[in-house]
Amino acid sequence: MNTPTGIWSGARRRIHMQEVGPRDGLQMESAFVPTADKIALIDALSAAGLAKIEATAFVSPQAIPALRDAEIVLREIARRPGVVYTCLVPNVRGAERAIDARADELNLVMSSSETHNLSNLRMTRDQSFAALSEVIALAKQAGVPVNVSLSCVFGCPMEGDIDPDVVLAWAQRFVDSGARGITLCDTTGMAYPTQVAQLTGAFRDRLPAAELTLHFHNTRGMGLANVLASIEAGADRFDASLGGLGGCPYAPGASGNVCTEEIVHALELMDYDTGCDLSMLLEAAARLPALIGHEVPSQIAKAGRRLDLHAPPADFEKWRSRALARDAAAATSADSEGADNVPTLEPR
Ligand code: COA
Ligand code: ZN
Repeated sequence: MNTPTGIWSGARRRIHMQEVGPRDGLQMESAFVPTADKIALIDALSAAGLAKIEATAFVSPQAIPALRDAEIVLREIARRPGVVYTCLVPNVRGAERAIDARADELNLVMSSSETHNLSNLRMTRDQSFAALSEVIALAKQAGVPVNVSLSCVFGCPMEGDIDPDVVLAWAQRFVDSGARGITLCDTTGMAYPTQVAQLTGAFRDRLPAAELTLHFHNTRGMGLANVLASIEAGADRFDASLGGLGGCPYAPGASGNVCTEEIVHALELMDYDTGCDLSMLLEAAARLPALIGHEVPSQIAKAGRRLDLHAPPADFEKWRSRALARDAAAATSADSEGADNVPTLEPR
């Protein structure tokens, strides 16, 4: 057999897994997850080796009531050294709150689609850019790095495809004004591998020094394929959510993020180094249904790892003896009656 090469063999290449479940996941839930449970979830995720965790959002509590406890969550989590605790921030008010609460990074959001930006953030993209430039200046003063998540870069559910040059131009403007990183978000799962490889490659060529993250939703079942396509094109950071929770409340048809434990399971099999402990992720994922009151999309949480073996059925020995007896009977009759014997099937 040929030895796999390229993306098919990770050769322990480091892939940074960034958890967005506590924000992108919980913002969609109708049930309010108690603050202590959110804190326990984030602590379990940091213990499991996630490189970055989007812990909460400093947004209007009327807009996203599920995350109205942002300050307490950020204050009471156990800060594990090396883990970046980032927070979603929509405006200056959110940035002030996040900086006060000692966020390690501010994650600003703007949509590359004018329609989605107006629906989600109630501003035109130019207004958003002006407002976020103020946030970036404030963060710079406070010494807190900024990432900008550009929504709908692989398509908007209301506008359709977004011109990649438009996406890259916005990314460039944010990097030029001081953003450390850019996240290309497939907010409603419209991305497909060919497009992902093209946009990732074009981003890398144009902004080689920026920290690039890809954020996929598995809405149309292309999540893992998109992750692999962007690795091939030079990406090494991925947002994902435990259990596959998630979705934007202001984007029609939005559903879960790519699932952290599914991506880690697949990439580790392919010899990538995700830095994550899959068993710990699975333990944390197993606690999710009780927290949110329903099952989660994760396939691995349901099926287990590929080598989590099952015991054979209870009557396995009976079937084995019967199968072996058939061989023995055939051999005996061939010996005693010759080649023209027609074997009879045993009754079941
Ligand atoms: N933190 C806390 N409260 C905030 C806030 C923030 N970051 N930003 C706005 N508010 C409050 C204002 O104080 C005001 O409260 P009041 O009605 O009690 O006076 C109210 O929200 C409306 O403020 P306004 O400045 O008029 O904002 P808006 O109505 O245009 O809302 C957003 C704009 C974007 C701030 C708000 O809709 C929001 O936070 N949306 C969440 C977006 C989101 O997280 N989407 C999913 C992730 S992609
Ligand atoms: Zn998302």
